Amino acid sequence: MKTRIFFLLLTFFLSKEMAAQKFDNLAMTPPMGWNSWNSFQCDGVNETVIKEMADAMAEKGFKEVGYEYIVIDDCWQIGRDENGYIIVDKKKFPSGIKSLVDYVHSKGLKFGIYSDAGTKTCAGRPGSKGFERQDAEIYAKWDVDYLKYDWCHTEGQDAIASYTLMRDELFKAGRPIVFSICEWGENKPWEWAKDVGHLWRTTLDIDMGARYDGNIWGNLIGWADLVDMQVGLEKYAGPGHWNDPDMLAVGNNNMPENEARAHFSMWCMLAAPLMAGNDLREMTPVDHNILTNKELIALNQDVLGKQGFKIEDFGNFEIWQKPLANGDISICFFNRETTNKTYEIEWANIKIKGFEGNYQVKDLWKNAVVGATDSKMSIDVPSRDVIVFRLMK
Ligand code: GLA
Repeated sequence: MKTRIFFLLLTFFLSKEMAAQKFDNLAMTPPMGWNSWNSFQCDGVNETVIKEMADAMAEKGFKEVGYEYIVIDDCWQIGRDENGYIIVDKKKFPSGIKSLVDYVHSKGLKFGIYSDAGTKTCAGRPGSKGFERQDAEIYAKWDVDYLKYDWCHTEGQDAIASYTLMRDELFKAGRPIVFSICEWGENKPWEWAKDVGHLWRTTLDIDMGARYDGNIWGNLIGWADLVDMQVGLEKYAGPGHWNDPDMLAVGNNNMPENEARAHFSMWCMLAAPLMAGNDLREMTPVDHNILTNKELIALNQDVLGKQGFKIEDFGNFEIWQKPLANGDISICFFNRETTNKTYEIEWANIKIKGFEGNYQVKDLWKNAVVGATDSKMSIDVPSRDVIVFRLMK
């Protein structure tokens, strides 16, 4: 009898414990991958596009530098069956999702899917509200690795409760799935989502028209404004829990090279998830070089997992720092002006945290050591561009 009670109690506490967590040891560095939304939105996404993107990721040097998730965003789902299970849009995905997951896995990549905490997704497809169990169960059955969970059509819902519910269902379904919270920063997820998801959007959507800054256009924000919105959030990020200033717009709508380089560099400095949103099958060599720059990706993927922070602000010229695991420090000079900026560096006068002794200065876009911190340097940062240094002992 005593033994029975002991086991009953044990099961009770274990199940309570199990119901109340996210999967640990996932996204220990910011997730890297590709998401269909910025280029294909609702109408353009289908099975062929996803397969070809997986091919491109595997064959064009993306997988090699760390990109791994292929995420289908909105519009893969069309209805629910009588048991509440999701029905796949067979016009777009005639072979079904499971075979697509297998295809992506066969390329050595991981697979991500999209749903919404409300009654409908943002594009009006069926949401998960009331069907969280069935959805989590089917994702696990399909061997999905990543879920982006949106926040449209959630009138009257509590964000913490809604995201926690899905976290628990995913956990119960038993397959480790990265949980990407997408409530656009409305409920300050950085304050509560550390134990709920692995990353959380901090803002509304990045402007896919690749506009730089100035304003919020409806729901769309230029990438430089997104940078400003990350200031102060650095203390909330770390391994397994990241601030997400949205996907990359590099390669979308002819973003100019200088801006693409600056945008990518800032996402690396911010330890932001690196989700490419361009068409990987046909891209310019310039965009390819930016998205696959190993020196920059190493900053982003640094195992210390520190989000970069602003240490100097001279109006339209800023200096950012990101501490790195081996004691190196990355420094980014960000010129937001429409003109070039010449800056005389006196290293000891910049407020760099943890700066001690002398460092070699490596220019990461040039991939060359250009000096040392015991002597002055003059840099010329082009308009809306960056210079990123790694200070090395
Ligand atoms: C919201 C999200 C976007 C995208 C669309 C899909 O706007 O923030 O990232 O997923 O929905 O409809």
